[in-house]
Amino acid sequence: MTGFSTRQLPAGYTPGVPPNSAVPPIYQTAAYEFGSLAEAADLFALRTVGNLYSRNASPTQQILEERVAALEGGVAAVAVASGQAAVAVTLLALVGRGGHIVAASQLYGGTVDLLQETFDDFGIPVTFVDQDDPAAWRAAIRPETRVLFAESIANPLAQVLDIRTVADIAHEAGVPLVIDNTVGTPYLVRPGEHGADFVVHSATKFLSGHGTSLGGVVVDQGTFDFGREAARWPHFTEPYTRVGDFSLWDRFGQGQAFAALVKSKYVHDLGPSLSPFNAWQILQGIETLDLRVARQSATALALARHLQQHPAVTAVHHPGIAGNRWHALAERYLPRGGPSVFSFDLAVTDAAGADAAKTQEQVARVIDSLQVIRLVANIGDARSLVNHPASMTHSHLTAAQRAAAGISFTTIRLSAGLEDPSDLIADLDRALALV
Ligand SMILES: Cc1ncc(COP(=O)(O)O)c(C=O)c1O
Repeated sequence: MTGFSTRQLPAGYTPGVPPNSAVPPIYQTAAYEFGSLAEAADLFALRTVGNLYSRNASPTQQILEERVAALEGGVAAVAVASGQAAVAVTLLALVGRGGHIVAASQLYGGTVDLLQETFDDFGIPVTFVDQDDPAAWRAAIRPETRVLFAESIANPLAQVLDIRTVADIAHEAGVPLVIDNTVGTPYLVRPGEHGADFVVHSATKFLSGHGTSLGGVVVDQGTFDFGREAARWPHFTEPYTRVGDFSLWDRFGQGQAFAALVKSKYVHDLGPSLSPFNAWQILQGIETLDLRVARQSATALALARHLQQHPAVTAVHHPGIAGNRWHALAERYLPRGGPSVFSFDLAVTDAAGADAAKTQEQVARVIDSLQVIRLVANIGDARSLVNHPASMTHSHLTAAQRAAAGISFTTIRLSAGLEDPSDLIADLDRALALV
């Protein structure tokens, strides 16, 4: 297999259609013309796989799918309109009818909203556990559990998951482990190498890197055998009656059946399709993934070390720093560098009641006076960005949930970009001098 950087460039695309464009073209068409009625019938019946209608897939999207699968070391992928959609269709396809999900309580706030409210509305039960507690993962598993779900690196506190331990627990229970590798990126960690069966991404973040386009991808590592306990997975192993009298497992087999179900059912029915233009934008970003992530990772560590000795900061949450609770896991899982998304707590009292307004005013003064680093609810961008979790990304959580997650009102999340590190340090120093 070629090296990681080489795979970022051609995977999924071989110029072959005149005029042989060197860079993948955008197939901006809603639908595809069939050569004959017989060809159309074969495509609709899944007897052959090909271009049909862009809600299901487009050639530009398929190049992106092959490329992300190549970077994650997987065998198939499905790209959709956002990371949120990738998480939703992945879990829906695995949980089936009557299934139960065990998920890390440290998940991204939008994912918690999806699982805790929307999935609950539809009667899909989810148990949240502390991702660092193997006993809690084991205790939460029920006979009807169908999937375990966590992030390789959570945010804003940059907790590193012990992927192997959670994968072993999932496999002992006969269910797959899904890992959201958005913050990790396949350059820093490939969860499939540590036992994860499916890997999801918000491609909006590091895969794109330019902050222009939403997208999401799920990669099947080809490791989970739905045929082993076939009765538990009827949506894979029983006849797929909407199409014919065969099962997806028989027709597509290990590593391909999941993508076939996600595309032909969940993306087809719910419609969170990726536009060809956004697929193309994400492909442009991926070409420089390793260069960007390596630099952002080094910059983040430099900023974390600087902040750690700053008198206006009481805590820095970065696993690259010795003494951090997840330092040993970072050394094991992230040998190429730590995350470029981390957070720090300001040295102002996290007060309730009458003093809360004063705390708020001080936090706002720091954030509003940053000039190079921008206040944006995004991560993985070429620009350095801050976010105030308590009033932005994690504002839907109760105060108790935030406290349990280690997020205080004074916590600021930083996503290091590609600017000169010295300018970022000067910007932080200037703002922190106001506390
Ligand atoms: C870890 C993680 N997963 C999923 C998502 C959702 O992705 P998107 O915003 O592309 O829908 C986000 C978005 O912030 C995220 O940070």
